[in-house]
Amino acid sequence: MNLPKFVKIVEVGARDGLQNEQRVSLEDKIALVNALSKTGLKVIETGSFVSPKWVPQMSDSSELFAKIERADGITYSALTPNLKGLEAAIAAGADEVAVFGAASEAFSQKNINCSVEESLIRFEPLMDRALEAGLRVRGYVSCVVGCPYEGDIAPQKVAQVAQRLYLMGCYEISLGDTVGVGTPLAVTAMLEEVIKVVPVDKIAVHFHDTYGQALANIYCALQLGISVVDSAVAGLGGCPYAKGASGNVATEELVYMLNGLGIISGVDLNLLAKAGWQISAALGKVPNSKVSLALKSQQ
Ligand code: HMG
Ligand code: MG
Repeated sequence: MNLPKFVKIVEVGARDGLQNEQRVSLEDKIALVNALSKTGLKVIETGSFVSPKWVPQMSDSSELFAKIERADGITYSALTPNLKGLEAAIAAGADEVAVFGAASEAFSQKNINCSVEESLIRFEPLMDRALEAGLRVRGYVSCVVGCPYEGDIAPQKVAQVAQRLYLMGCYEISLGDTVGVGTPLAVTAMLEEVIKVVPVDKIAVHFHDTYGQALANIYCALQLGISVVDSAVAGLGGCPYAKGASGNVATEELVYMLNGLGIISGVDLNLLAKAGWQISAALGKVPNSKVSLALKSQQ
């Protein structure tokens, strides 16, 4: 089997997760990021610098970056939709930023209030300024399999947007199944199209688990040689502009599967599960992770 030996996990719970949960206190966010920093994760998407009118849950991202205890060797990253967001991220000391586009016109309008083409044009000066400030830029493509407004999305459209972001200078392209509708066949067809235009070692996958397909889809991506996977501790979140979308695949599920496959992630599952219980308690619920619940039942 053509599986990678090592997988880099991009932990997006503090951003993608918490952007779509009820608001938690700044202290709870700080505690989450600090707990995640002790698990062996190497990339923690910490917040986003977007309009507070659009996503109020992320409005304390500057304070969060200021107050977390940063550990050596961990990248604390942030989402930035425009230059204003980028300047705020630089001021806050983000180690890396991400722009986010979409393969669906309707989703682009709902999420960032502009067309796909306008968004790509908007990202260009952001890219120049970020690189000048010494920050790497990640590029997200949303709705890579389906869109809540447009339905099925053509793999060619995904490949076009992914290639544009890559050629613009994004060092990694994260392909997001924003609504979590993908199944292995459709996901494989989409990934094969993107691999034609973006090197496989520059591709990441980002699955939401709405229909319980995320792990199966990740397994397909691993077989194609993809070795960067986004996930959220405790399966936090969803997407404010994708009605009905559930959270990202739980990082606990991902680590458990990677462990079983003998693929190294460097993440301590017990410490991770602990971080998941802590933030879930702050939200007044239990983790959206079967692995976490199973581990708890054995204690
Ligand atoms: P707009 O209204 O077109 O922007 O929004 P604007 O430039 O006309 O500005 C409107 C107001 O927002 C102004 O304030 C600006 O100053 C302010 P006012 O004068 O009205 O008081 N503003 C900002 N404030 C703080 N930070 C900024 C910023 N920019 C403008 N960066 C905009 C356009 C992009 C700003 C808006 O649509 C927005 O913030 N969208 C963010 C949506 C979002 O965060 N979505 C979730 C993340 S994407 C996602 O989750 C998918 C992903 O996980 C992958 C997947 O699952 O597929 C990544
Ligand atoms: Mg997402």
